Amino acid sequence: MICRLVKRVLVGIAALAWVSVSVNAARWDHLTGEQLEQKLTEKFTQGQYSPKGADSCLMCHRKNEVVMAIFDGAHGSMNNKQSPMAGLQCEACHGPQGKHNKGGKEPMIAFGEESKLSASAQNSVCQGCHNDPKQMAWHTSTHNLEEIACADCHNVHSAKDPALDKLTINDTCTSCHSKEKADMNKRSSHPLKWDQMTCIDCHSPHGSMNESALNKPTINDTCYSCHAEKRGPVLWEHAPVTENCVTCHNPHGSVNDDLLNSRAPQLCQQCHAPDGHASRVVPEPGMDAFGGGKSCLNCHNKIHGSNHPSGSLFQR
Ligand code: HEC
Ligand code: HEC
Ligand code: HEC
Ligand code: HEC
Ligand code: HEC
Ligand code: HEC
Ligand code: HEC
Ligand code: HEC
Ligand code: HEC
Ligand code: HEC
Repeated sequence: MICRLVKRVLVGIAALAWVSVSVNAARWDHLTGEQLEQKLTEKFTQGQYSPKGADSCLMCHRKNEVVMAIFDGAHGSMNNKQSPMAGLQCEACHGPQGKHNKGGKEPMIAFGEESKLSASAQNSVCQGCHNDPKQMAWHTSTHNLEEIACADCHNVHSAKDPALDKLTINDTCTSCHSKEKADMNKRSSHPLKWDQMTCIDCHSPHGSMNESALNKPTINDTCYSCHAEKRGPVLWEHAPVTENCVTCHNPHGSVNDDLLNSRAPQLCQQCHAPDGHASRVVPEPGMDAFGGGKSCLNCHNKIHGSNHPSGSLFQR
């Protein structure tokens, strides 16, 4: 009985707290993203920072575990002079408090999926401190042009930023890239699903000057960085191999062996006519040289090129 009463009181308090919070939140909930941006810009020019820094924020926000976790990460460190916590503290990112503490009359800069601010507005806060040349490619990157926010990948209110941990990078990327997620779980793939490799082994998350934001100038250079033996030089080159590995392979994964886009003979017949030469070849008894086994590769097995003096047909 007592138990139930206590519970009812608790529920009552919780409901009250919720009401007051949502009333406060509603003060700026009706604003459009643009109006909000304008209001926040005004606030910035007034520059009314709280004299007590984080302490004044924590009066209301300390119960929120997400908020408190900032002290476990790089931005919560007091030792680093460049760190927000050694300067304007919370307001270095969320902007001046102004009258926000007066019954929530004024909005703060918010980040992440629920923020009404444009990605570029959010990102400009981060870039205020993170403006080293390494980030230059960001401006022309697809991610920037597609309005992806720094906070879509990074989590600053945490001890472990998921974008910086090898075991969670792939999850971060595939939360948006569902096609690559499906591919990497197919039968043949790079060891991405075991997190032994990550998307950033090939791609630069902040963009690069190369196509598809690759780390290396070309697709083939990307592949050679690990598959050096495919670089050659070879005596007899197979033109598509030196041109572009992804003509035949899907780097993210495939239902076919060896990450192949399709299987032989179809793979080869995109370029080589299926005519004539079939009749000139005598398949071994019981084996259909063109459909069964490794098909064309039964004979042309040095498909990446040959170093044999008489290997011009990639047979040896
Ligand atoms: C008097 C209490 C109070 C103080 C002090 C306070 N806040 Fe808030 N804050 C709130 C309330 C209430 C909300 C709206 C409810 C919510 O979303 O949690 C809120 C929301 C926020 C949000 C989310 C905004 C959004 O649009 O989703 C951020 C960020 C924030 N506060 C940061 C700060 C910072 C930084 C400080 C210190 C400079 C601070 N707050 C001081 C009460 C306070
Ligand atoms: C380095 C910039 C930075 C600093 C410093 C910072 N925040 Fe945040 N804050 C963020 C980002 C980014 C988010 C969105 C969530 C995330 O990515 O971690 C956020 C989210 C929040 C939220 C919303 C949390 C929720 O439950 O969704 C509140 C409230 C908040 N911060 C308050 C604070 C307070 C209080 C401080 C100081 C103790 C602080 N922040 C310091 C960047 C910062
Ligand atoms: C007031 C300056 C300041 C602002 C604003 C700021 N940062 Fe930082 N950030 C730092 C400093 C200082 C470090 C630590 C660098 C170091 O240790 O070399 C850091 C480190 C980082 C790191 C690496 C973290 C790690 O654990 O090594 C990431 C990622 C990062 N910041 C992202 C962000 C994002 C995203 C935002 C915007 C929401 C942001 N920062 C806003 C100053 C800032
Ligand atoms: C698509 C996801 C993604 C976005 C968007 C993103 N980052 Fe990163 N960021 C990463 C990953 C992944 C790493 C780890 C890179 C590594 O280990 O080589 C990283 C590393 C960092 C670091 C650590 C230092 C460094 O350069 O290695 C900082 C600082 C940083 N990012 C800041 C930012 C800022 C500022 C923005 C927004 C302008 C941003 N990031 C946008 C994924 C992202
Ligand atoms: C918040 C969603 C989101 C996250 C998280 C995200 N991306 Fe993207 N990414 C996009 C969008 C949207 C595009 C543009 C449309 C497309 O190509 O799918 C894009 C494009 C790309 C491209 C093509 C770039 C080009 O110039 O053609 C690459 C590569 C890429 N992302 C890699 C990554 C990697 C690696 C990560 C993790 C570190 C990541 N993305 C995380 C949304 C995201
Ligand atoms: C082994 C290297 C490698 C790895 C690992 C890799 N990619 Fe790629 N990715 C590429 C290459 C090469 C291209 C260009 C393909 C092309 O032009 O057809 C590409 C293209 C892309 C594109 C652009 C696709 C399009 O249709 O334009 C996206 C998005 C992408 N990758 C996301 C990812 C994500 C997410 C991961 C991690 C799950 C990842 N990649 C891992 C090599 C890689
Ligand atoms: C960061 C290193 C790295 C890069 C870059 C890389 N690979 Fe790989 N690749 C691997 C590893 C590791 C394996 C797995 C080897 C194993 O399982 O024995 C592999 C396996 C393969 C396989 C065989 C897959 C199978 O099912 O057995 C093919 C085909 C392949 N890679 C093609 C490519 C192509 C094409 C590129 C360029 C787009 C590329 N790789 C870039 C590391 C890399
Ligand atoms: C003309 C199509 C084609 C092109 C282009 C191509 N490959 Fe392959 N690759 C194949 C085929 C077919 C196999 C399977 C070989 C077999 O079954 O004997 C294969 C297998 C592989 C393997 C796994 C077996 C091995 O030989 O190590 C790797 C790794 C590989 N390719 C990397 C590359 C790289 C790197 C490039 C670009 C330099 C490339 N491939 C270009 C058709 C191609
Ligand atoms: C993207 C197009 C393309 C694909 C796919 C392709 N090839 Fe080729 N292949 C070529 C080109 C171009 C040449 C050079 C032809 C020339 O020099 O006349 C060539 C040359 C050859 C040669 C040497 C014959 C000659 O005339 O020099 C053989 C054998 C061969 N390919 C077999 C294959 C096999 C087997 C496959 C499938 C595993 C395959 N090719 C896939 C484009 C392709
Ligand atoms: C049983 C072995 C064998 C198989 C299987 C085979 N080839 Fe050949 N291929 C040869 C021989 C032998 C030659 C040389 C024929 C000649 O000089 O008359 C040749 C020649 C070629 C040439 C050079 C141009 C030409 O027509 O002379 C190409 C291209 C070629 N093959 C592609 C393919 C493709 C594509 C497949 C699969 C659809 C395939 N081969 C399957 C043995 C084979």
